[in-house]
Amino acid sequence: MSSSSTANGYPLDPAVGSSDCRITRTTTSDYAHQPVMLTEVLNLLDPIPSGVFLDATLGGAGHSKVFLEHRADIRLVGIDQDREAHFAANDALTHLHGRFDIIHGRFDRIDTILDRLGIDKISGALFDLGVSSPQLDTPSRGFSFRREGPLDMRMDRTTEFKAEDLINNSNLFELSQILKEYGDERYHKRVAKAIIGARPLTTTSELSEVVVNAIPSASKKFPGHPARRTFQAIRIAVNKEIEILESALQQTMHRLTKEGRCVILSYHSGEDRIVKKTLRAAAGLSHTVPKHLPKPAETPIIRLLARSGQTPSQSEIEQNPRSASARLRSFEKIRED
Ligand SMILES: C[S@@+](CC[C@H](N)C(=O)[O-])C[C@H]1O[C@@H](n2cnc3c(N)ncnc32)[C@H](O)[C@@H]1O
Repeated sequence: MSSSSTANGYPLDPAVGSSDCRITRTTTSDYAHQPVMLTEVLNLLDPIPSGVFLDATLGGAGHSKVFLEHRADIRLVGIDQDREAHFAANDALTHLHGRFDIIHGRFDRIDTILDRLGIDKISGALFDLGVSSPQLDTPSRGFSFRREGPLDMRMDRTTEFKAEDLINNSNLFELSQILKEYGDERYHKRVAKAIIGARPLTTTSELSEVVVNAIPSASKKFPGHPARRTFQAIRIAVNKEIEILESALQQTMHRLTKEGRCVILSYHSGEDRIVKKTLRAAAGLSHTVPKHLPKPAETPIIRLLARSGQTPSQSEIEQNPRSASARLRSFEKIRED
C-alpha cells in the first residue's frame, strides 16, 4: 500500500509515476462515470451503524459522495488502486473535509490498510467491481477493443505487468484457460492459437483483429463485439481481479461490526459466482461445496439481504447501458466475531 492519499482531505501531491505511467490529473468534471444502482445501494446502506464506511473501489466517489452527504455520522476510507481516480474522488469529496481518507492500494489489503489507519471495525462496505468508464474510455489505458492504444490494461500503473506481457509470453494452455475462465469464450482454444500465431502483439487494434478473424463467422451474428470477451478475460488476469476477491470479502466480513452491511456490484458471471459462493458459505447456506471453495460457516456470521442478485431497472439500463450487466448482492453481519 502506498498512501498517496489525501489523508483527511489534504491536497494530493502532484502524482507522477515512472516515466511510462504519468498520472493525469483527472478532475470530477472530466471523470465521467455514473454510479450504478445508486438508489438501491443507498437504501441498503441506510441502516448501518455510525462509524467507518469502507469503499473498496472508490473510483470517482460517485456512491460514497452521496452516502456521506446523507450520513453526517459516517467517515469514509476509500481505496482505489488507480491513482488517476484519486484526483476525481478528492475533488468530489472536498466539501466533506476531514471525513475521508483516500488510499492507494489493492482491496485484498484491507486488513493492512485499516490497521495502519488504526481502525478496528467498520460499519459498512461497498465493492463496485471492475473498470470505471474513464479507464475504458481513455485509449492510452488499453482497456477497450474500440479504441486504438497500447496493450496495457493495468488499473494500477505503478505495477509492471501489462496485458502485452501476458499476451506475448503465456503458453497456449495458460492463454486458453484465461479466455475460458475469465471471458467465457466458447472459442478459447482457437483464439489462443490465433494470438500465439500472430505474436508479438502491441496494440489493442492488433489484438482485436486477431480475435475477430479467429471467431467463426456464424458466431459473429450474436450481439456484442467478438473481441469483448477476450479483452475482459485479459484485463481480469492482468489485474488479478478474481484471484483476490474472496480474500477481500473475507477480510470485510470479519471487520464489519454487528449490523454492519456490505454491498457488492459485479459485472460478469465469474465475479458474481465467487461473490455468491463466498456469501452463501458465510451465511451457512451452502450444503455441498467443491473443495476449492470456502466451506459453509458452522455458525453463520452474516445474513443475505436478498436471496438472489438484484439487477438494474430497465430505465437505468436505457439511461446508462454500461449498467446492464450489473448484479448486486448484499449482506448484514449478524454477530461479532
Ligand atoms: C466501477 S469503478 C468504481 C466507481 C465508483 N463506485 C463511482 O461510482 O465513482 C471501479 C474502481 O475500482 C478500482 N478497482 C478495481 N479493482 C480494484 C482492486 N482490486 N483494488 C482497488 N481498487 C480496485 C478501479 O480502479 C476503479 O476505479
